[in-house]
Amino acid sequence: MLFLNKKDITSADRQLIQDAVFNAYTLMNNGNYNMPDRTHVQDGDNTLLLMPCFGGDYFATKLVSVFPGAVDKGLPAVNGIMTLADNTTGQPLAVMDGAAVTAERTGAVGGLGGLYLTGTQLKTAGILGAGVQGYSQARYLLLNRKIDTLLIGDMYPEAARSMADRLAADFPGVEFRVAPGADDLVADSELVIAATTSTRPLFSDDAGLVKDKTFISIGSFRPDMKEFPDAVIKTADKIYVDTLFAAKESGDICEPLKQGIVKKEEIRAFADLIKEPAPGHNNGTLFFKSVGMALFDLTVASALYEFAKEKQLGVTLDF
Ligand SMILES: NC(=O)c1ccc[n+]([C@@H]2O[C@H](COP(=O)([O-])OP(=O)(O)OC[C@H]3O[C@@H](n4cnc5c(N)ncnc54)[C@H](O)[C@@H]3O)[C@@H](O)[C@H]2O)c1
Repeated sequence: MLFLNKKDITSADRQLIQDAVFNAYTLMNNGNYNMPDRTHVQDGDNTLLLMPCFGGDYFATKLVSVFPGAVDKGLPAVNGIMTLADNTTGQPLAVMDGAAVTAERTGAVGGLGGLYLTGTQLKTAGILGAGVQGYSQARYLLLNRKIDTLLIGDMYPEAARSMADRLAADFPGVEFRVAPGADDLVADSELVIAATTSTRPLFSDDAGLVKDKTFISIGSFRPDMKEFPDAVIKTADKIYVDTLFAAKESGDICEPLKQGIVKKEEIRAFADLIKEPAPGHNNGTLFFKSVGMALFDLTVASALYEFAKEKQLGVTLDF
């Protein structure tokens, strides 16, 4: 059985990971997978998610936890273990750093969101949340779009500064700036990606501020979590989710649904979009809410396993 650590996982090409996420949407459209709604185990502020999925040559399970308070101790909020097994014989094939798989595949989910929901001439984008996912969102955005300026915001400005410095070292030619405030970041950006653990909207509830922009929410995955003010969903000409389960899970969708701000029929599956080539332009105000799903983990872990076997990465373990 192969063990893949963070270094093995992050050494994979971003395009390989993004193609694997694209493949997950294709499997979704074909109905070629078996994935129950994920199990949430809540313990105070902390959450444990159990995420199994069967599809193609493999099946996988991710056990991932979110401990928002870990950040105060300088530790990552998201941790996890991922297993991959053979879908014909049931034999275990690999164990992987689940946090690293999560960060890469979530970056790619946002990356595809940007590819399908922004114009090719995107000049300025903003990321709210300078943690693990925020950094990954930036890397995948820059895989797809040649932007001039990336604005970064966080409740801890030093986290935003540190992310800007790390990205500047990796992506010369792009200007990385810490935004003075979330409203300034939204005002100056054509695309806004939020990847925070916030339970309240990150910027003002102002329709004028959000009009004709693209919004991607990565963070909120519980009904009590919310990243965007209602102005985003109210103004949105189109609303997409990575899985329809997001309508139950995320406060960014389930609260507006409950209050009648938006109707269930207005919420579309992102998988429908990928049936056509990316349009290369943005029509109006667009909102994409991701909560993630085990099918992404499965296709990304499968691609990583095959990549590692080919490149002889990782450590072989005996059971
Ligand atoms: N959609 C998905 O598939 C997916 C996958 C993984 C993680 N997530 C979610 O994304 C969120 C972020 O995860 P992470 O691993 O990056 O966590 P993290 O702790 O590394 O980063 C979160 C960042 O958000 C900032 N933040 C929190 N509240 C804020 C606020 N009100 N205003 C401004 N900044 C704020 C924190 O300071 C921190 O820098 C979590 O809720 C996690 O569950 C979603």
